[in-house]
Amino acid sequence: MARMSKLFEGKVAVITGGNSGIGRTTAIAFAAEGARVAIGARRAAESEETIRKIQAQGGEAIFVSIDVTRADQVQKLMDTVMNRWQRLDFAFNNAGIGGTPFVPIPDYAEQVWDDVINVNLKGVFLAMKYEIPHMLKSGGGAIVNMSSVAGLIGGPIGIAYYASKHGVIGATKAAAMEYAQKGIRVNAVCPAVIPTALSAGVFDGENEARALALHPMGRFGTTKEVADAVLFLCSNKSSYITGHALPVDAGLLAR
Ligand SMILES: NC(=O)c1ccc[n+]([C@@H]2O[C@H](COP(=O)([O-])OP(=O)(O)OC[C@H]3O[C@@H](n4cnc5c(N)ncnc54)[C@H](OP(=O)(O)O)[C@@H]3O)[C@@H](O)[C@H]2O)c1
Repeated sequence: MARMSKLFEGKVAVITGGNSGIGRTTAIAFAAEGARVAIGARRAAESEETIRKIQAQGGEAIFVSIDVTRADQVQKLMDTVMNRWQRLDFAFNNAGIGGTPFVPIPDYAEQVWDDVINVNLKGVFLAMKYEIPHMLKSGGGAIVNMSSVAGLIGGPIGIAYYASKHGVIGATKAAAMEYAQKGIRVNAVCPAVIPTALSAGVFDGENEARALALHPMGRFGTTKEVADAVLFLCSNKSSYITGHALPVDAGLLAR
């Protein structure tokens, strides 16, 4: 029987925040489609399970310990990828933090604002800054930035989170325009609530039913459902899509 070819055979993907939650599932999904995967995040121990799963399915993956707010460390991640595999095709700029949900603006700490904007927004800028030259050298590619439904609407989970996720969409559109004729597509995904370490403690307890009621499908999403959207936006099946912010939200934004 002829061997089935995989979607991303011979390609290389970098995933920030790939050691946990949505990033981990997406890293494993990229590898299952034949991509070699580089994970950038801070905690090495958290990455071990991801690397093990990828190797168990016959894939290749590395972890580089980085803080996405540090330009030198983000550059190190991209340089490591190029030194090892001599190409970069796809990036999922996904690392993020939640800040302090439900804290009103007058009480919202300036330090939390700075932290959230630095990780969620500056982290995406720095990632693209160091990915794009390598992608151009590789003959083009696709970038997916992690926004949120909080990048398209407001709500109660903290001003900096909304500001950062709206900013990610702006940065995505600007990058998409800059590289539309240079072979790099740039899109964003905007998930609704996906149970992960980040959303735990925000949408549980008495907030769970309230949050659930906002999701027309009547359930939260899975990390796999976000990974599927990211892989679609990196594949040739989305070859005419750039500058788009794709809700992965059970219809939440359609109400
Ligand atoms: N879960 C949801 O409901 C939901 C909905 C919409 C959007 N999102 C977005 O999805 C993304 C992933 O979140 P998740 O839900 O999968 O939560 P998660 O499991 O907590 O993952 C967050 C990831 O970001 C990494 N990270 C955080 N700060 C970092 C830093 N300074 N430098 C490098 N890596 C950093 C973490 O790794 P280290 O701590 O090891 O660095 C971890 O891998 C976030 O951007 C989040 O805003 C989540």
